This record gives sequence, structure tokens and C-alpha cells, in this order.
Amino acid sequence: MTADTAAKKVFIKTFGCQMNVYDSERMTEALAGDGYCETTELEDADLVILNTCHIREKAVEKVYSDLGRIRDIRDRRRRDGKDTLVTVAGCVAQAEGAEISRRSPVVDLVVGPQSYHRLPELLKQSRETGTRIVETTFPDEEKFEHLTQKRQVRSATAFLTIQEGCDKFCTFCVVPYTRGMEYSRSVADVEKEAQNLVESGVRELTLLGQNVNAYHGVTETGAETTIAGLIRRLARIDGLERIRYMTSHPRNMSDDLIAAHADEPKLMPYLHLPVQSGSNRILAAMNRKHTAEEYLRIIEKVRAARPDIALSTDMIVGFPGETDCDFEETLALVKTVGFAQSYSFKYSSRPGTPAANMDEQVPDGVASDRLTRLQYLLTNQQERFNAQTVGQTIPVLFERTGRNGGILVGRSPYLQLVQAEADAALLGKILPVAIRGHGPGSLSGVIAA
Ligand code: SAH
Ligand code: SF4
Ligand code: F3S
Repeated sequence: MTADTAAKKVFIKTFGCQMNVYDSERMTEALAGDGYCETTELEDADLVILNTCHIREKAVEKVYSDLGRIRDIRDRRRRDGKDTLVTVAGCVAQAEGAEISRRSPVVDLVVGPQSYHRLPELLKQSRETGTRIVETTFPDEEKFEHLTQKRQVRSATAFLTIQEGCDKFCTFCVVPYTRGMEYSRSVADVEKEAQNLVESGVRELTLLGQNVNAYHGVTETGAETTIAGLIRRLARIDGLERIRYMTSHPRNMSDDLIAAHADEPKLMPYLHLPVQSGSNRILAAMNRKHTAEEYLRIIEKVRAARPDIALSTDMIVGFPGETDCDFEETLALVKTVGFAQSYSFKYSSRPGTPAANMDEQVPDGVASDRLTRLQYLLTNQQERFNAQTVGQTIPVLFERTGRNGGILVGRSPYLQLVQAEADAALLGKILPVAIRGHGPGSLSGVIAA
């Protein structure tokens, strides 16, 4: 048994989206209050947490293969007289619950995303009783209120979850089942966390939500505000220089949010607005509730408000029933928009979602070919976008040191990675950088006098 007084170590591995990154940070903070320090060495960990993702089959398989490796390490540690508590958190925890410890008996605790504020208590319970615990209910209490208020940030940029869950029920997607119904944090709660982050050195905030632009938090007066209203409030915080948000749904791309891109200087010219497909037939089968034309109309409005905006999307190929013709429409839409950035995936059938039972599943080889063609196009678009910044001088927020000495890495307003020779004292500062070169994924430049 590890003595309670010794410094305990927690190893946390995060899969999936930014919301999981945010949740992992919050869990680490909650555990720090319990005397846990973070370690990057699995072998040293008294507590291992896998914060998992259920979105595609591959993501889930990775979790189970990690659990196999963790079992070996736990057995080795046990021979040295050390205990290891193994926790599975995140969306696999929520979706599979007790099935996880049946498949992987090494798991002591399974905890869903709505119960992270109870983590210290659940761990104590597990340690004291030696029983397996599964906590995947959607409790009434507000988890954010119970998580520590003092954020421990180490960078000039931070994520801030303002909205969780999704009621859109796209037919391919597990999120409405793993994250529950849509919920928005109050404006006061978000403002307090933002203020706290800025006081500890954060210059750029990325507001997060599975459907972030569906945000409808209450203000002090009890009225609801949109994400545009929230952004305008946060923009008043002195010391906060940049605001971003993700992920947005085309259905919630309201005019006031588009207008904020035109006249709120702290709102960065970047929009991640997944379209998934360019075929109206497939969009309807996906239950996306928008057509390709409606999406293009939104893009036009956004570009009218902010002509230089960088656009980003998620795409799925090989959705059940997708024909060559449908796929050609996807390529056509991508060519029309011209994306600066993108994520594209082969459709993955998820148990329990409506699409899993649809006829005409697309053969894997066909989906792979389509993905290759789509990614070729999208990579070219990204490269073209990056190439056009060469020769420009753009403000870069330096976030971290590069792998090579003397190099700092930061982000442009368009979320491009930028590398420049700079002194480490410039970390956390926004400086003009003359862009000299580009690769597919990053830019390089020199700090302008
Ligand atoms: N809320 C966001 C995205 C959430 S999931 C939105 O509505 O766009 C992130 C991305 O994973 C999705 O945009 C989609 O492109 C992809 N995705 C989700 N389910 C998938 C599945 N079953 N197979 C393949 N890709 C999937
Ligand atoms: Fe999933 Fe659709 Fe909700 Fe996005 S909008 S999280 S893709 S169900
Ligand atoms: Fe994955 Fe859950 Fe995020 S399924 S993408 S970790 S919301």
C-alpha cells in the first residue's frame, strides 16, 4: 500500500478532442488538491488515468491496447510492493461503462465526463474498499462549480469549456450519447474563469464546446446571451488579447456571431465550421440539417464580414450510401470554399447510432481511395493558404520553445504554427513576424524590427 503521506503521482493520457484536453487539465488540478503531482512516466504512476474518446472505432481500440500495457506495468510495480490505481475517464467510459472492466479487469474506476468533480472521492472509495467502481450517471449538480476555481496554467494560451453536449444527433455520431444534452455555463462563471486565467498569464483563450456556437448562457439578469454576446463581454478583459472558439455547427452560425468577426478585433480570423459532406443526399442521411448551398451561403457571409478569415472543416467519406457522384459533390464543395485547415476521416460505424444500421455500407477500399483523393486536395489547399502568407508581416503569439535551441513557436491569427528565432523571454508576447517560408503545416519567419 502506498503511504498516503508520500507524494503520489498521476499519469494522465488524453485522447480525442480539445474538450478532453481541458477536462484532463481540470482533473489534474482537482487531484493536486489531493496531493497528486503529475508524471510523464507510466512506470512511476500511483494513479493512471486514460481520458478516452469514442468517436471512431480506432480511438477505442487504442484505449484497450494501452490497458494491456498498463496491466503489465501494474504487475511489475506490484512485485515491488507498489499499488497502481487505473482509471478510465472520458467518452469510452460513458459509452461502455462496466463493460470496460469486464474486458480489462485491470481497471479500478470508470468515470464519465459529468462526474469529474467527484474524482478524488471516487478514488478514495476505490482504494478503501478495493472494489471496482463505475460512475456514469448524469448528476444534477453542476460539475464546473465543484471543480477548483484556481486554474494552473503554464502557457499563454488556454482552453475554456463554455458549453457541453449536443442535441443535434447526426446519425453517425456518438457525442449526444457520451456527453449528454446541450448545456451552457453561465456568463458569470465563464467570466470568472477567464479573468483568473488572464491573471495567471494567459493571452489567448479558445472557448470550447461540442456545439460552441449554440451557447446560450444566462447573464446576471437571468436573460440568455449568445456566444457573440459572451465574446464581446470577454473582450473587455484587460490583458486578454485573442479569443477563438470551436467547434461550431452551421445551423448556429448566427448573424451576430458573423458580425463579431467584422468588428471585434480580439476575435481571431479563424473559423472551424465542419460541413462533413458536399452532397445534399448524404447531408440529409447524416441528419446535418443543412444543405451544401446553405453552408456556402454562410461562408459567403463570413467572408463578407472578414475577407481574410481562415476556414476549417471536418469531412467524412464513405458514409453509408455515398456514391461516386456524392463524393464528387464533396470535392466540388471543397474546391468552392478553399479551406485553410481541415480534418478528414473515413466513416466509422458506431454501435447504437442510426447510421450503423443503414444499408449500403461503403466497402473499406472505396472509402480509403476517396479519403486519399480528398486529403490530397485539402493538403494542397492548406499549402496554398500558407504560401500566401509568405512575404507578409503578421502578429505571432509565442507559446513554447522549439525543439532546436533559440527557436520559439507561436501561432498566427489564422492559427498557423510559426517558428522564429527568438529569446525565451519573449514567450507569452505577441510580436510582428516577417514570414519567409512555409511548409504544409507551419511557417517560418523573423521577428520584424
Ligand atoms: N461537434 C462537431 C464535431 C464533433 S466530432 C461538429 O458537429 O462538427 C469531430 C468530428 O469527428 C466530426 O466533425 C466528424 O467529422 C468526425 N466524426 C464523428 N463521428 C464519426 C464517425 N462515426 N466516423 C468518422 N468520423 C466521425
Ligand atoms: Fe456529433 Fe453532429 Fe453533435 Fe457534432 S453536431 S457533436 S457531429 S451529433
Ligand atoms: Fe471523442 Fe468524446 Fe471528444 S467522443 S471527440 S472525446 S467529445
